Amino acid sequence: MTHYSRLAGTGGYLPGPPVTNDDLVARGINTSDDWIVTRTGIRARHLAAPGQTSCQMATEAALQALDMAGIAAADLDLIIVATSTPDYIFPSTACLLQGALGNRGATAFDVQAVCSGFVYALSIADKFIRSGTHQKALVVGAETFSRILDWQDRGTCVLFGDGAGAVVLEAAEESGILASALHADGSLVKILSVPGQIAHGQVTGDPFLRMEGQAVFKTAVRVLTEVARECCAAANLAPADLDWLIPHQANIRIIEATGKRMGLVSDKVVVTVDRHGNTSAASVPLALNEAVRDGRIRRGQRVLLEGVGGGFTWGALLFEF
Ligand code: UT7
Repeated sequence: MTHYSRLAGTGGYLPGPPVTNDDLVARGINTSDDWIVTRTGIRARHLAAPGQTSCQMATEAALQALDMAGIAAADLDLIIVATSTPDYIFPSTACLLQGALGNRGATAFDVQAVCSGFVYALSIADKFIRSGTHQKALVVGAETFSRILDWQDRGTCVLFGDGAGAVVLEAAEESGILASALHADGSLVKILSVPGQIAHGQVTGDPFLRMEGQAVFKTAVRVLTEVARECCAAANLAPADLDWLIPHQANIRIIEATGKRMGLVSDKVVVTVDRHGNTSAASVPLALNEAVRDGRIRRGQRVLLEGVGGGFTWGALLFEF
């Protein structure tokens, strides 16, 4: 029997009220609403409360996705969390989430591919289900990037937000997920990294996010366009056959440049960066959840998800909803 996977449910969680650009100025950051909006399109982001963790947000998003899918947490046989801001060094956030949901026995692990993490994780879950070993998967992107930002570095701290998004995948006789493509280039480690570690009870190196903004910008536009074409070709489709493009939400100029290079009109592109900022691995599932729940994405439509981030990593996944 051929196994495929289909998306059965989505969920999302954003912590607290929106924090606007003017709120950041009021908190003493030497920036302006005009600079942030013009360069990035970001108007607001959500920030986790003190003590609120990636796993707690993942749990909220997961419960919504399970509810939409009509699947009990106990019946999941695979749980993958994409995060670069895990609650602990170990165990994985996926195991913490499994415990919070009351599931026992499922395969559970984290995926670390930074802002491409959710696309990586969803592609991995699809391969598990296609192999026939697993039937019901929960895939979550959850991040508390506010904890790894240097709030003295205005070039990075204004760009990111916190949140979680989730998808439930289940085995089906017809596809669902049509194709995916994942890539990385470790020669570009330095353009986006948190180059620190904990050793002997102390942080060594630099525990904050560091970025060469312009190098990231140029690389992101190039690889997002390439991988979108590659993924469409793998599914024997053209970009014009897509109903929706959901790129990683980092910067409206990257999103618009990618959509334009693919020849897609802007109303086929889902955008949340204006209200969420860059939530790293959570950005794609949060945008997907929003467009599913407000009725834009309908059953039978074709959707291309795209991630790009530190590593450098990038990937795309095409599915029929
Ligand atoms: O998941 C991937 C995540 N990363 C990205 O998507 C980032 C991609 N890169 C970008 O989006 C852009 O490179 C940025 C938005 C980060 C920066 O835009 P830019 O046009 O590359 O600006 P820049 O870094 O070259 O800085 C231009 C000026 C500088 O001032 P001077 O030296 O020209 O006087 C900065 O000091 O803007 C200044 N600046 C700011 N001013 C006000 C940098 N950050 C800020 C700020 N507010 N927040």
